[in-house]
Amino acid sequence: MQLKNRVALVTGSAKRVGKTIALALAKRGANLIIHYKNSKKEAEKTVLEIKKIGRKACALKADLASSQDCLQMVKEALAIFGRIDILVNSASVYEEARFGEIREELWDQHLNTNLKAPFFLSQAVSKGMLKNKSGKIINIIDSDIHKPYKHYLPYLVSKSGMAGLTYCLAKELAPYVQVNGISPGPVLLQKDWGPKIKAAILKVTPLKKIGSPEDIANAVLFCIEGTDFMTGAIIPIDGGQHIE
Ligand SMILES: NC(=O)c1ccc[n+]([C@@H]2O[C@H](COP(=O)([O-])OP(=O)(O)OC[C@H]3O[C@@H](n4cnc5c(N)ncnc54)[C@H](OP(=O)(O)O)[C@@H]3O)[C@@H](O)[C@H]2O)c1
Repeated sequence: MQLKNRVALVTGSAKRVGKTIALALAKRGANLIIHYKNSKKEAEKTVLEIKKIGRKACALKADLASSQDCLQMVKEALAIFGRIDILVNSASVYEEARFGEIREELWDQHLNTNLKAPFFLSQAVSKGMLKNKSGKIINIIDSDIHKPYKHYLPYLVSKSGMAGLTYCLAKELAPYVQVNGISPGPVLLQKDWGPKIKAAILKVTPLKKIGSPEDIANAVLFCIEGTDFMTGAIIPIDGGQHIE
């Protein structure tokens, strides 16, 4: 699929990795729906940056924990652009909690935002994709689902579910819609992580460096423009962590 004049919805694209993905798609000629929940100002700034590139863009707010909000956002996006050719599920909740302290609210927050929303968004956008006999869905997962660490159980379970969702959707939506996943390793560290955490990460990363959001954006571009003969695949972009 070529990106020129396609319409892409990237969740969580006001800033960080999602924004880098959105800008990469715009630079290849796509028009963008910038989704945000709290980062309104950053979303508006991203829209301006995309318009400067010469592409169309709008910012839409939705709390992905609510399936109503997900459906409303797709409705609004379709009213603006008339179609959605590409969905990138990048938004996510990532909260620390010790095993004994995990409460239902935290569980629901992760599972609803990181797993339920990608499903309902995919279901909603795939109607048009199937009608047009063309579409791409890319789920941003996490390479650590294969080597879980402690204190992030709901997050890691939600991301493991997202891998399962990628396989199931690929089957459901073939042959017209390709559904793939990208499993990032460390590409943009949390702001409060100091040198000790960074050193520990490098120790388990064969390529001995932190990646970049552009590494993920390039993999997204590959899933869209690089091939139409791939579905149900999950690509690790993790400096080799999965073989460590
Ligand atoms: N950063 C890394 O090194 C790394 C490593 C492994 C995997 N990943 C995966 O890559 C993706 C992007 O990473 P990131 O670090 O850029 O993510 P992030 O900064 O942790 O989160 C991205 C966005 O998700 C949105 N979000 C959170 N809860 C939401 C909700 N209930 N409804 C709607 N939006 C919500 C937030 O939007 P607002 O700010 O607008 O509220 C946030 O800006 C994520 O799926 C992450 O799990 C990243």
